[in-house]
Amino acid sequence: LKNVPLFEDFSDEELEKLLVISKEKTYPKDAVIFQKGDLGNFFFLICSGRVKVIIETEEGKEGILSILYPTEFFGEMSLLDGEPRSATVVALEETRVIIIERNDFLILLYKHPELALKILKTLSLRLRKANRQIETLMFLDAPGKVARLLIDIAQERGKKINNEILIDLEFTRQELGNLIGVSRETTTRILKSFEEDGILSIERNQVIIKDVWELKRRI
Ligand code: CMP
Repeated sequence: LKNVPLFEDFSDEELEKLLVISKEKTYPKDAVIFQKGDLGNFFFLICSGRVKVIIETEEGKEGILSILYPTEFFGEMSLLDGEPRSATVVALEETRVIIIERNDFLILLYKHPELALKILKTLSLRLRKANRQIETLMFLDAPGKVARLLIDIAQERGKKINNEILIDLEFTRQELGNLIGVSRETTTRILKSFEEDGILSIERNQVIIKDVWELKRRI
């Protein structure tokens, strides 16, 4: 817990108390942690693994709102506004979480204003990201959506090697498409056309962006 930015201001004693009120749980890959519309009584902090936050249509189409990584949290919205879960959360791989019950979470917020501020800051960043997603969905064509998604992933987690940027995709083509509302087939076709144009190269789940400027021009 010491390495979790959310709790970095907590003393050892406070962290001990936190451990007493929290529970640990491990979900296997593909487990649904909770579903949109459920009553929400718990706050979740990711210790290891990865989850996707999704919405689904009645026909089973999936849209991915976000992918969350270790030290990130989810489930705070229902605890703060008392509404049902706003989205479904699914483990993308085996995922270990720490769970805090609603009342304990609210007491923590009252006792630790710095924790409340950190959560507010994260909510603000998530709203920014969501606005950017709205912008992408509203204004860009399919190649533009793929180009912008790659650039966003590169900025968040890319490794710069000389003039190239290497990104580990960590998702299937389907999930990549689900992040931008583009079908798997179209996403694959666009990636291939970018490859043919010399903008990037793809090896299994690694994408090497060779010409960032040209990729940006496609937006
Ligand atoms: P809650 O509504 O309780 O349950 C679903 C959770 O998914 C929500 O709380 C947030 O923690 C998380 N969530 C919902 N929308 C987004 C988003 N756009 N980006 C990141 N996380 C989100």
